[in-house]
Amino acid sequence: MGRLEGKVAIVTGAARGTGSETARLFAEEGARVCIADVLEERGREHAASIGRDAFFHRLDVRREEDWDALITAVHDRLGPVDVLINNAAILDVRPIAELDVEIARNILDVNLVGAMIGTRSVLADMVERGQGAIVNMGSIDAMEGMGWVAPYAASKWGLRGFTKSAALELGQKGIRINLVCPAGGNRELTEGFSKNLMKRVEAGEKIEVKGLDHGVMGGRHAGPRDIANVVLFLASDDAAFCNGAEYLVDGGHTAGHIWFGTE
Ligand SMILES: NC(=O)c1ccc[n+]([C@@H]2O[C@H](COP(=O)([O-])OP(=O)(O)OC[C@H]3O[C@@H](n4cnc5c(N)ncnc54)[C@H](O)[C@@H]3O)[C@@H](O)[C@H]2O)c1
Repeated sequence: MGRLEGKVAIVTGAARGTGSETARLFAEEGARVCIADVLEERGREHAASIGRDAFFHRLDVRREEDWDALITAVHDRLGPVDVLINNAAILDVRPIAELDVEIARNILDVNLVGAMIGTRSVLADMVERGQGAIVNMGSIDAMEGMGWVAPYAASKWGLRGFTKSAALELGQKGIRINLVCPAGGNRELTEGFSKNLMKRVEAGEKIEVKGLDHGVMGGRHAGPRDIANVVLFLASDDAAFCNGAEYLVDGGHTAGHIWFGTE
């Protein structure tokens, strides 16, 4: 029997990357899954590749009316919501001196307010049945800072604060909410990052990336399955007493900065 047998789950930002891998793993573990994303073609293809236990519904996490329509669609097709994964996010890379206010607001809107609206949207179902699990997708940038991504890091620290506050409110109602903090995921998220950097390098700027990899766990980053496995644990009854906490999936990246070795 799967660890999410019979559960109804919504995964936002699930058309690609970590969200898509999470949706696939959930279906493998017996859940019926709504893949919610702004990327329609990719989302539909992904749902079709999973099969009858998944369907795609277009959702822009910033829009309350989209959330209302999504919940109605999930009720019609699957039933009340047991699990919500607030995974959708965007990233922009530039120094604070070049802060673009519109982009910064949008990052907070998608990464932070989107998760807040999502959480509110599933509450009625979860409160009524006295159970539910919500997992928010943070980052190591919710635990420490990172140069050139200040609005993104602020959105993830904000999501951490939201997660803890919500845990105090919702725990009493049988609902658990936790934060997963990976170092890595889908390389496509960082495409914009490298494009932006490449443009600057081509324009003659000398840019050095410092401290990207200090060699823990062979220097690799988390892959989508590494992260999805931890999301699955938190979404399942195996994590019945886990609430309001951060779960790092960073291979030890934030554990410290100095160590000795013989090779
Ligand atoms: N890739 C990394 O290196 C990395 C590192 C740490 C944390 N994360 C986090 O992991 C999560 C998943 O990222 P990923 O690595 O799979 O990248 P990704 O870009 O592939 O996934 C993000 C998904 O969110 C969707 N999305 C963006 N805006 C949306 C909106 N307004 N409404 C609905 N969907 C929207 C995108 O279409 C995409 O499918 C994010 O929360 C991200 O911040 C990623």
